[in-house]
Amino acid sequence: MRIYLIGFMGAGKSYWGPRLAQMAGLRFYDLDLAIEESRGQSIDQLFALQGEESFRVIEKEVLHLLTETHEQFVMACGGGTPCFLNNLEYMKRSGKVVWINPTNEVLTRRLSKERAQRPLLQSVAESELAGFIQKKMADRRLYYEQAHLRFDQETIDLTAVLKAIQHV
Ligand code: S3P
Repeated sequence: MRIYLIGFMGAGKSYWGPRLAQMAGLRFYDLDLAIEESRGQSIDQLFALQGEESFRVIEKEVLHLLTETHEQFVMACGGGTPCFLNNLEYMKRSGKVVWINPTNEVLTRRLSKERAQRPLLQSVAESELAGFIQKKMADRRLYYEQAHLRFDQETIDLTAVLKAIQHV
């Protein structure tokens, strides 16, 4: 089984992913990390040197490569992964897609500490962060909402996720 975790930056995909994988007895992949390894550059560098459009092409390529070469995994996707280049449709055909969806307030609190590490947030002032999240979430919601499953809690009940996955 392939399980793709999607959701906004700071939703907890990379936190919950390995824990879910361990519980399910599956391998874990972090798509951002796999992209960095495949290109030998950080996400930050890829955005800065090649721009977002090229990053999205690389992201799609690595998503397809990992999916085609592995049938069983939990993957933490990037926040934008399901929103570009038909990736969501591809993931839905290849496995189960789970949306981790804490409130915008929780995201704002978490991301305010991590702005520097995230290319999309580097030019966003602390005072503009909540508005930025609200606007971007409004654009992306349309994609996230198409996931097979959605979990809104700040603390995810992994047993409930695994149980629900059997029924979608
Ligand atoms: C992005 C989210 C990041 C990373 C890149 C773009 C986005 O991943 O892929 O900076 O468009 O939301 P995380 O959600 O793991 O931070």
